[in-house]
Amino acid sequence: MTFRFVPFLVLILVASTYSKHNDDFESVKHGITQLFKTGNKPYFAKTAKSYQLPHVLREHMEKVYNNEEICTLCNLLFDLVIDEWKQGMTKDKILDIVKYICVTLGIENDRVCNGSITINADIVFYIVENYPDIKANRLCGSVLQAFGCSTGDDFDWSIILPPGNAAKRPQPDTSGSSFNILQLSDIHYDPNYKINGKANCGEPVCCQEDQGEADSPENACGYWSDYRFADTPWHLVEETIRQTKTQDFDYVYYTGDIISHRVWQTTVENNTKTISKLYSFFKQSYDVPVFPIFGNHEPHPLNVWPDDRLKDETLSVKWLFKLAADEWSKLIGQDVSETVLKGGYYSVSPRPGFRIIGVNGNLCYTDNWWLIYDDVDPFNQLQWLADTLEQAEAANESVHILSHVPTGDISCLKVWSREYHRIVERFSSTITGQFNGHTHRDEFHVYYNSSAPTEAIGVAFNGASVTPYDSSNPSYKLYRVDQSTYSLLDYEEWTFNLTLANSQPVSETPEWYKLYSFAQAYGVNNLQAIEVDKVLYKMAQDHSLLDDYFRFKFRNGDDGINAGCSETCRKENLCDIAKAQFADNTQCDYFLQLYEQGKQT
Ligand SMILES: *[C@@H]1O[C@H](CO)[C@@H](O)[C@H](O)[C@H]1NC(C)=O
Ligand SMILES: *[C@@H]1O[C@H](CO)[C@@H](O)[C@H](O)[C@H]1NC(C)=O
Ligand SMILES: *[C@@H]1O[C@H](CO)[C@@H](O)[C@H](O)[C@H]1NC(C)=O
Ligand SMILES: *[C@@H]1O[C@H](CO)[C@@H](O)[C@H](O)[C@H]1NC(C)=O
Ligand SMILES: *[C@@H]1O[C@H](CO)[C@@H](O)[C@H](O)[C@H]1NC(C)=O
Ligand SMILES: [Zn+2]
Ligand SMILES: [Zn+2]
Repeated sequence: MTFRFVPFLVLILVASTYSKHNDDFESVKHGITQLFKTGNKPYFAKTAKSYQLPHVLREHMEKVYNNEEICTLCNLLFDLVIDEWKQGMTKDKILDIVKYICVTLGIENDRVCNGSITINADIVFYIVENYPDIKANRLCGSVLQAFGCSTGDDFDWSIILPPGNAAKRPQPDTSGSSFNILQLSDIHYDPNYKINGKANCGEPVCCQEDQGEADSPENACGYWSDYRFADTPWHLVEETIRQTKTQDFDYVYYTGDIISHRVWQTTVENNTKTISKLYSFFKQSYDVPVFPIFGNHEPHPLNVWPDDRLKDETLSVKWLFKLAADEWSKLIGQDVSETVLKGGYYSVSPRPGFRIIGVNGNLCYTDNWWLIYDDVDPFNQLQWLADTLEQAEAANESVHILSHVPTGDISCLKVWSREYHRIVERFSSTITGQFNGHTHRDEFHVYYNSSAPTEAIGVAFNGASVTPYDSSNPSYKLYRVDQSTYSLLDYEEWTFNLTLANSQPVSETPEWYKLYSFAQAYGVNNLQAIEVDKVLYKMAQDHSLLDDYFRFKFRNGDDGINAGCSETCRKENLCDIAKAQFADNTQCDYFLQLYEQGKQT
């Protein structure tokens, strides 16, 4: 997850407080234009008084704001930036104006606006300067895809798939021998974590050394972290790894995000230190192979993955690819550097008949500015993925795919999401497991056959997160895997009660417990797509299963579950499970119909 997320209650509050009048909107537009043309700050400030956009760039804000207005403002702003830049306004002057707009509209506070804009400026200017005849809608249409902003006709391409259908392969043997795989995700280790710091700070991450003291005991950050926008102190990293080692497993999957949500102040040097520290700790702690992938938080600035054609080395992510090529090869126990240096992805076979593919799924994330410059299969990754799966199919291998951002995510670029879905469909029997992270929620998504939409052909499970950010209890997953087909048979979700742990003396370790096992909680035989599809039918009938799903999403985290799950929330959850491709509502609509019938019976 990036730093975009605000609890639902706040959303409602913000939405009603700032419901806009047309006049206010027109006036703020005029204010912005004047700001660029005449530099009139007081006039703009006056127009912004009744038109505030707090946290508009955080996650899920498309549910809060008038999307059309946001798209219009984005286009207006970037048209002005592009024009003024071309007409010779200096970079410093443009940045000064954009920062002023950010603070004055209440989007974030001073230092968050300043920091975020400063560290992203060079890459945006590079794109504006080097993309031939760039238009604002190319920029707003991709970055604000979640708001439904239009991209024009751009952003369409496809990769080449081999002809034919998915090969027939054997069904899993539930009674045969099996082994375990541990999935850890989204640790977001925070070197600045301050015990008893301020948990209600208003910035994208709280409990920071430089945010001052808590104003009351209720607002003080706990020893083991906090439900309110806090990340993971080192002792929680150690405690989690220690606890996982009481389990038995053959492999570890780490599905990304190491860096904290202090997104306005990252540096290459500090990210390098943090990333190396965690990987070294994995290496020293586990005596089995660890398979890591990138999260969107690993680069500096976060989210941005420029490719090799970038002429300016200072903006490149090569440093990160080099770091990973080295560290991952050690953790995996095989040299993966060739493809990691190309684009942060790899394919390895840890035992005959089994292959693990690490995908850099962050390339589809719409906050990746580089997509504006070139969205066509970045780093040729999807074509490589298809080719690699074709070889795996020919070799009769079973494949697990690790990828950070779920493909049905509202912030995964539509065309990339569609092409990924085509790959999953073509190789549905070769792919026997998919593992995501990023959302910090315990979730799963079912892939359906586009030619036979009720036919389930794949499932992606989310590793949830170690960080409580936000509202969740820290957790990990332990999968049971069929030894002969490498299909997933079940998983267990392990967690502890953060409220309880924080109320105990610090000398006591948290009481970890198994929250549930999938097969047992949902009454299915294994984690094959057809079995998981049955869960959706059950949920549509028996809505208490959706209440369980809701609790599990937050791993029983008090702040998460105390908010409650309304009828709308239940339906959204059901819909999300049935969606693995951006804006594909086919199965979602189908299950919602069943849900309504379920209410009548
Ligand atoms: C703005 O952010 C940059 C980068 O983090 C920093 O160097 C600079 O001092 C900041 N300026 C202000 C006025 O805070
Ligand atoms: C980088 O890390 C050092 C040591 O933890 C810290 O003092 C410094 O403030 C960090 N730099 C930034 C820009 O956050
Ligand atoms: C999807 O459905 C089509 C049409 O029924 C079928 O030919 C194809 O084999 C199915 N694909 C998978 C992966 O089951
Ligand atoms: C392919 O692999 C499966 C195990 O996943 C095995 O049962 C089957 O015999 C293999 N087929 C061939 C032709 O090797
Ligand atoms: C977590 O522990 C606290 C403190 O003991 C308790 O009040 C709360 O009900 C527990 N939460 C859950 C979901 O059991
Ligand atoms: Zn994350
Ligand atoms: Zn993420």
